[in-house]
Amino acid sequence: MKSTGAWAWFQKVVMNWTSISARPLAATPNFVFAGGADALGFSVLISLDRDNSQSLQEQIYTRIREQIMAGVLRPGSPVPSSRILAAQLKVSRNSVIFGYERLINEGYLVARPMVGTFIADILPDQAVGATPNDSTEDLSEISESRGAHVFSGRQHGILNNSSIPIDFWTQRTDPRAFPLKTWRRLVMQSLASAGHNLTEYGDPCGLMALRTEIAEHVGSTRGIQVRPEQVVILAGAQLALNLVLRLLASQGDEIVVENPCNQGAAYLFESHHMRLRPITIDRSGIDANAVAATDARLVYLTPSHQFPMGATLSLEKRRTILRWAQRTGAYVIEDDYDSEFRYDGAPLPAMKALGPDHVIYLGTFSKSLGAGLRTGFAIFPEHLVDAAATAKALLDNGQVWLEQAALARFMQNGGFMRHLRRSQQHYFSRRNALISRMRERFGDVDLLGTEAGTHIAWRLPAAFVPAHNIKAIARTKNIGIYTVQSGGGHEYDGSQFEQNWLLLGYASLSEDQIRAGIDRLEEALKTNEITHGSAQLSRSPLAPS
Ligand SMILES: Cc1ncc(COP(=O)(O)O)c(C=O)c1O
Repeated sequence: MKSTGAWAWFQKVVMNWTSISARPLAATPNFVFAGGADALGFSVLISLDRDNSQSLQEQIYTRIREQIMAGVLRPGSPVPSSRILAAQLKVSRNSVIFGYERLINEGYLVARPMVGTFIADILPDQAVGATPNDSTEDLSEISESRGAHVFSGRQHGILNNSSIPIDFWTQRTDPRAFPLKTWRRLVMQSLASAGHNLTEYGDPCGLMALRTEIAEHVGSTRGIQVRPEQVVILAGAQLALNLVLRLLASQGDEIVVENPCNQGAAYLFESHHMRLRPITIDRSGIDANAVAATDARLVYLTPSHQFPMGATLSLEKRRTILRWAQRTGAYVIEDDYDSEFRYDGAPLPAMKALGPDHVIYLGTFSKSLGAGLRTGFAIFPEHLVDAAATAKALLDNGQVWLEQAALARFMQNGGFMRHLRRSQQHYFSRRNALISRMRERFGDVDLLGTEAGTHIAWRLPAAFVPAHNIKAIARTKNIGIYTVQSGGGHEYDGSQFEQNWLLLGYASLSEDQIRAGIDRLEEALKTNEITHGSAQLSRSPLAPS
């Protein structure tokens, strides 16, 4: 019997409602209308309208986001697996995966490998709500009323515990390249002559032998002429950035950031209740004239290899920004996180070398040796050295001695430079393997950031579905590729980069893995709907004809 009138409407609406439940499906009827919490404490209604012009994945995204924002879905609660939800909603699994991926990318959901997917503890809208207008008074009121802390911030994506077989993760160097035997020897030698170093406090700014080596190293490789006293050793560039803010930033200060920006930096500035002024980058880095038109006191830049997009800041732009800093008394924070790896063209001088008094330079051994060492440094202008030393002592009383001693020996005996040259060779070959395989499989690919660093950015052709969908398709084939947000970047005011670009880190993969990864990616894209409105593609639209 054909349904008519109100009955047909009722059927259509009710049949499209289902409950998101973490319970297994076995006894689930065609539709479930469950109010309140289920046995696992999590149940919610979701409605899909198949006549709606919005795609099913968009509807899934929108409905879940609405319910998170309304507080119906509570922070920390689990969401059902994509398989279970797809079965309940009677939609393809990809629709759910794409909806979830977008919610993950935007920070509403958090995927915990091998455990499940959960509503984020700190929602993006809450974090954005931490505006510079929040006064200290407001914050203390909040903390009193909740008996909680005054900190508000969002978690940046630096950790990736996933075990994806071929993972183009942006933040990973090659574990096989770590000079383990040499390191063991250096540590043993250092221990043998440790003396009182393990039982006494050292200089909070770091071991002088290491500061001396770093001063020489940046002199010869980056043209930066400094005294060792200007170098402060810290547990990574992220902590160095914290020290810089402790020294130079107050709540409500304006700070210019590249857009898109390094998540770790941007979220740190947000958590300090600074006013972020994102300025969009192009292929030669940030818009320098726009920077010079601001009243900001600080600008955070990654000039050698913009994170996450990979652009190199042109010399002209560097000079424009430095003239502005000189004129206004502003400081440039130059994060030179991966400048050891440059494959094409001579490196441009560091901004610190061009404008020593106006630049605080951040360096790290996370890319050249390994992030687990947790060793980085900041180089301050002469006039900030005393204040930096006091602030550093208050921050942490000093850095672990043993690693500093081993690293100083490694640099002194030339081993570090030899290790760098070897790594440069490996990463150069891997970069070449990646670019040539992408060209073989996808034709004339639009890439950014290829000349330096350990990752590249790929601009998807205009006809492609958004980047997070491509990422999700790749994941079904055990390939990890990353959007701007999931790869450790953050885009403010829009989603041009988020939608249209993918990030691929290549340092930790062998050339064979890289080629296999790109081949599998092409396969996966061929068999999925990757262009807007098209049916299945028989071949990649980017493959050479
Ligand atoms: C832009 C940027 N700065 C700095 C770092 C390194 O930070 P850390 O020295 O704290 O490991 C990274 C991560 O690799 C990064 O992407």
